[in-house]
Amino acid sequence: MERAILVLESGTKRIIDFNHHTIRLLRFVPKELLALSFQDFFSRDVKDFVLEGYLKALHKSQCRVDQVLINRKDGPPVPVSIEYQCPDPKGNVTVIIYPLSDQNGNGEWDPQQELTELRQAYRRLSDLNLTLKKRITHLAEVLALADARFDSAQDEMTESLRQKEGTKKECLSLMASIIRSVEERDPLSRGHSDRVVVFAFEIAQALKRPEKELDIIHNYGALYDIGKVGIAEATLTKQNPLTDEERLLITDHPVIGTRILKHIPWMEPGLDLVRHHHERYDGSGYPDGLKGKDIPLLARIFMVADAFEAMTRDRAYRRRLPVFKAIQELERLQGAQFDPGIVDTFKNKVLSSQPHLLNETNDESAA
Ligand SMILES: [Fe+2]
Repeated sequence: MERAILVLESGTKRIIDFNHHTIRLLRFVPKELLALSFQDFFSRDVKDFVLEGYLKALHKSQCRVDQVLINRKDGPPVPVSIEYQCPDPKGNVTVIIYPLSDQNGNGEWDPQQELTELRQAYRRLSDLNLTLKKRITHLAEVLALADARFDSAQDEMTESLRQKEGTKKECLSLMASIIRSVEERDPLSRGHSDRVVVFAFEIAQALKRPEKELDIIHNYGALYDIGKVGIAEATLTKQNPLTDEERLLITDHPVIGTRILKHIPWMEPGLDLVRHHHERYDGSGYPDGLKGKDIPLLARIFMVADAFEAMTRDRAYRRRLPVFKAIQELERLQGAQFDPGIVDTFKNKVLSSQPHLLNETNDESAA
């Protein structure tokens, strides 16, 4: 049994000395203990009873007080027995405090048990800390796995897009070959669609059209006459006037072209161009008779580029027109066949920047 021993000053009952068991029992630091009086540790109902023993001790009579609760700085009161020693020559009284039980009431107060409990609490905290560390490690592993899967999915998506883009280019290349094979049947129109695309691209640039539309011209422009694949070579190269049946077959090529391409999802941006490049500004074109600005802009551009390119090249049924006459023809049909603004742009910004064409104009004019 660990005994708390302290010395009370004569008269004031202020604590003037104590042993280290006193600190363990009462849980005050030394400085605090020295500022307290002995009666401060007891509740009002037992204070007189406790001090009665003190008074007896002052009269040279050792005295013991059993079974009282002494208050501590923290935690519940502890049951103790108090023994007052006879005062020393200065009148100071030594008090010995015997703890009777621990906080659980299972026996005497045992600092060793308290230390054991503290150690157990520390172990529980250590275990909890270890568990948390394991969970954090597990979480980090899950995150790393998710990250790796995301990277893998991203790589697969990129590869899929790359393959898709490759397939798209191969398909466009194949279709361009089909167009060339159509043109090969009529040597006089060889390279026609490529030159039309160049003119159309320059007109769109001069009109400051957005990149998206320039891409459509670049990727799908060469396919605008793909519907001609279904027209017989004899009809395409015929020198005599076409029969009504042959004319009907030729005017059907925008619809045939649309029908060929519409089953390919990524061809959608080029469908308007394929279907409407023979619509006339006054509404007398085909296949839908669209009029003015109702005709998609790229189709109006191709109408001008296609007509100019065709007029300035020899055909089986006619000689080519001089460039200046082709320009005159464009001007004559402004507002009828052609969008007036596009014809002006073509003349003033595209052709004017190509001296070889203008020189040809002058030569032809002189001839
Ligand atoms: Fe056409």
